[in-house]
Amino acid sequence: MIIEPRMRGFICLTAHPKGCEQNVKNQIEYVKSNGKINGPKRVLVIGASTGFGLASRITAAFGSDASTIGVFFEKPPSEGKTASPGWYNSAAFEIEAGKAGLYAKSINGDAFSNEVKQQTIDMIKSDLGQIDLIIYSLASPVRQHPVSGVLHRSTLKPIGSTFSNKTVDFHTGNVSQVTIEPAVQEDIDNTVVVMGGEDWSMWIDALKAEDLLAEGATTIAYSYIGPEVTEAVYRKGTIGRAKDHLEATAFEITEKLKDINGKGYVSVNKALVTQASSAIPVIPLYISLLYKIMKAEGIHEGCIEQIQRLFAERLYSGNPIPTDEQGRIRIDDLEMRTDVQSTIGQLWGESTTESLVQLGDLAGYKQDFLNLFGFGFDGIDYQADANEMVMVPSIK
Ligand code: NAD
Ligand code: NA
Repeated sequence: MIIEPRMRGFICLTAHPKGCEQNVKNQIEYVKSNGKINGPKRVLVIGASTGFGLASRITAAFGSDASTIGVFFEKPPSEGKTASPGWYNSAAFEIEAGKAGLYAKSINGDAFSNEVKQQTIDMIKSDLGQIDLIIYSLASPVRQHPVSGVLHRSTLKPIGSTFSNKTVDFHTGNVSQVTIEPAVQEDIDNTVVVMGGEDWSMWIDALKAEDLLAEGATTIAYSYIGPEVTEAVYRKGTIGRAKDHLEATAFEITEKLKDINGKGYVSVNKALVTQASSAIPVIPLYISLLYKIMKAEGIHEGCIEQIQRLFAERLYSGNPIPTDEQGRIRIDDLEMRTDVQSTIGQLWGESTTESLVQLGDLAGYKQDFLNLFGFGFDGIDYQADANEMVMVPSIK
């Protein structure tokens, strides 16, 4: 069958197995070309199939020869339907890890559930013994709470007052005004339950209770701060409250891991096109301006460049881990550079449907968006019959 992109709003309903494989191979090549990192040997990545989590798994495996267990929630291929991209990515990752002689197993299910935590515990016990690094990279709109059974939904709303600003439909390039009504307390609470630190903490508790954390174990969750133009809807909105909670959880985890000299950190990452960020209003316009400026300055990075730098220059450089005054690791340093941000502030006001073609990097945005689903890669014959990739037995 020939697989073409089928867009529905902020998602693509199809994914290309060969393109996803190419995406994974490109990231592996990038990590290998940057040399070995004296990093962790046994790594658990929660949210390992796309975006920053996939880049983390690839960096650990191909930068530090780590054994990896990846947890994610993806759709396998079924009759007449492609798998979700994260499923193909993970299948490709396991194949490449296997070729390189690296241990790699995956658990496909709801990371918020007790069952998936138990499966992971069993796998660590039987295969790896203990874990040196846990990456927590979930991005989900919903969480069923394992104790109450309640299904919580996160929202992307401002707090306190109505927010109105520009946004772009990256498919059409149409710049328009978006208005979002403020959250009620329930929206804030739900978003914190879904995207805050409670589940991260539960994972660490569960692993520690079974003595599966090695001496000096480190755990990292990913956060975002961003610019003034998105502040009302992002960092000072409902999702920002969840990120505040996540960042506070890092300190609690460090406290809990004192007896094994373990540490919990948050790393603040750069704005990038992922399935999660494409759904946030205003962010696509910001990203298209940001990409244009960062590419012109020669400082643009994707997920793999970000995470390779996180490992090589922050976590495992041999020096103490540098943090900001709030204890956070910063790899959004280039995005947040004063010159970059002041140019964005300037261009923001000038952005219209007509001018964005020149001012922004909509083409780069679209390219990255297609790439998420395995489309738009050089060297892939998209007109060819895309036979399903060999099924990897450990991914259900
Ligand atoms: P993503 O959508 O690419 O990845 C999300 C991952 O979570 C996938 O592996 C998915 O399978 C997994 N997942 C979702 N729900 C799950 C569930 N119930 N059980 C198991 N796995 C589940 O997102 P991303 O952009 O890489 O985001 C990862 C983290 O990085 C988030 O905390 C996000 O806020 C943060 N971050 C993102 C950006 C950005 O611009 N994209 C910037 C800074 C920080
Ligand atoms: Na991820």
